[in-house]
Amino acid sequence: MTTDSLAPSSDRPSRTSPPAHYTWAGRFSEPATELVKRYTGSVGFDHRLWRQDIRASLAHATMLEYQGIIGDSDLEDIRRGLEIVQSEIESGDFSWSLDLEDVHLNIESRLTALVGDAGKRLHTGRSRNDQVATDIRLWVRDTIDEILALLREFQLRLLALAEKEAETPMPGFTHLQVAQPITFGHHLLAYLEMTLRDAERFRDCRQRVNRLPLGAAALAGTTYPIDRKFVARELGFDDVCENSLDAVSDRDFAIEFCAAAAITMMHFSRFSEEIVFWMNPGIGFINLADRFCTGSSIMPQKKNPDVPELARGKTGRVYGDLTALLTLMKSQPLAYNKDNQEDKEPLFDAADTLTDTLRVFIEMIGGISVCPEQMRAALTRGFATATDLADYLTKKGVPFRDAHEIVGRAVKHAETRGLELTRIPLAELQCFSPLIGEDIFSAITIEGALAARRHIGGTAPHQVRAAIERAKTRLEIQRLETGSKT
Ligand code: ARG
Repeated sequence: MTTDSLAPSSDRPSRTSPPAHYTWAGRFSEPATELVKRYTGSVGFDHRLWRQDIRASLAHATMLEYQGIIGDSDLEDIRRGLEIVQSEIESGDFSWSLDLEDVHLNIESRLTALVGDAGKRLHTGRSRNDQVATDIRLWVRDTIDEILALLREFQLRLLALAEKEAETPMPGFTHLQVAQPITFGHHLLAYLEMTLRDAERFRDCRQRVNRLPLGAAALAGTTYPIDRKFVARELGFDDVCENSLDAVSDRDFAIEFCAAAAITMMHFSRFSEEIVFWMNPGIGFINLADRFCTGSSIMPQKKNPDVPELARGKTGRVYGDLTALLTLMKSQPLAYNKDNQEDKEPLFDAADTLTDTLRVFIEMIGGISVCPEQMRAALTRGFATATDLADYLTKKGVPFRDAHEIVGRAVKHAETRGLELTRIPLAELQCFSPLIGEDIFSAITIEGALAARRHIGGTAPHQVRAAIERAKTRLEIQRLETGSKT
């Protein structure tokens, strides 16, 4: 696209001279000033809706012809003209003009220049109010489908890494303090669950997005004998928006989309934070490939995890986009208000930020190399199997609260001696409880602790493998469900 003509600079002349008469010139005695044009114009950002705008116009024109509202030669001209418009936009030859305010008027005006009166007939029975609402819904729907595909790609890669690391012990944390042994695969599967719910949210949101506003016209409907269900079918909408006032005015579907994006980003910010933590040299659980890091201009030793840090930071901007849309919609009276033109930038920003983040994470999974020795060392330093010792005593009849206290004393003793629990001689352990026998040592090894958590959702390696198999099936079901909807 040519951006020159959109630049908000008074010393840069518009590439297109103002049209001899603009859309609403009949009612007006003077044109808008340059400042007002810049202030009210949206083509600088809503040109992104051009594909959806053309698609919706074609469906509308087809219906108009089918219903006998325009002639078949009009429809032919409109089709031919829109094809030319499409190729001009695709090749960058289309001249976007701020004088024509937005994507809709730019396309319509060019169409009319190309095919004459048929172009002027296209807007019969519709308004930019239902037109823009339709375009955005189509755009959000397309974007949801893209996000679902990206999430799926991420999930497949995450699953592959989880499978590789299904048995790799690492410390699980609470309060960022070593808590209990888990496997790295189990840890990664937690993110799989989060992103599966994210995908579910987007799919759910898609159902409410996928309703056709067109036909609502400005706000009250139209006097022409239109067939809204026909247009809905043409555009792949599940149904029409029932109420014309609601159809043109509400942007709750965009808010819902941004909410789903914000929650997804929140999950990726958690993963980012963990990657940053894991690759800290003091922790050293993973190494992140150089291509996802940058160095320092002053400290030669530095390797900074910029990519996950930025993903963490960009989460804030998506929250901002969501807040902007919620605030934009708040207290708006029915029906359409120009406020709604402000919906696009936050919406686009949330979508761009999320899709970029997903693309980066898809690549970054392949840049993670695991350091199992460091994970194991952190486990032993942190007395990660203390709970297992307490469980051992409980199973021998000691009430859990008493067992907890006994083990607390044993850990304190081990700490003073600078030993891990498994290194304390049996005789010493028996000072804390005579119930402790030789079999304690298999119960409080890392492998013993892992294997003991053998129920569904637990970290025992065979359960992690079972969870991976179930996840594969779930992903496949989702793929089939999504595929049948799009
Ligand atoms: N560019 C406008 C928007 O994004 C299109 C609808 C304008 N309608 C109107 N009556 N001014 O909302």
